[in-house]
Amino acid sequence: MSEPTSIDQSNLPNLHVDWYEAVWIRVSLLILVIFLLAVIAASTAFGIQVPGVYGRIKPDEIMAPGSPFAEPGVRELAPDNYEAYIRAATWSFTPSEIRIPAGATVTFYITSLDVQHGFKIMDTNINMMVLPGQISTLKTQFNTPGTYNMICHEYCGAANADFGHHTMYGQIIVEDPTTASDVQ
Ligand code: CUA
Repeated sequence: MSEPTSIDQSNLPNLHVDWYEAVWIRVSLLILVIFLLAVIAASTAFGIQVPGVYGRIKPDEIMAPGSPFAEPGVRELAPDNYEAYIRAATWSFTPSEIRIPAGATVTFYITSLDVQHGFKIMDTNINMMVLPGQISTLKTQFNTPGTYNMICHEYCGAANADFGHHTMYGQIIVEDPTTASDVQ
């Protein structure tokens, strides 16, 4: 058995850390911890989601028979559980109006027929990119009756002052189930 070798400390560089450097190392770590806690709080308490890629679809297959985007719209899967397929194109969303009862959870699937668009539903946590070739998805619950505008927030060109990116929008009408006349 050999003797444990001891390291000769005399040739090692002096690893002294100045006090202010030590303080800033701790401050940097503290900031990272605060950011981490903020991300955790955002994703749990406030429901902030990262848009998911549900799948891929070639733009020339969007209108093919059997494609859910050929006849887009909202469908009830179970009580208070809906899915909505939305087709974005220059410069409109199809359908441009969706009606659901308050309390409904809706999973949105959206793709683009042509160029890059955006999809944001005001007063909700829905905010995602709409890319040709990709199906993006996000889910949210509509608890408060009212009209929610869905807008394109990614500049996608314009024909003139009356028609273009700035007029690309639609509406989600969340109806109070006790007063709604007909919910589709
Ligand atoms: Cu579509 Cu901007």
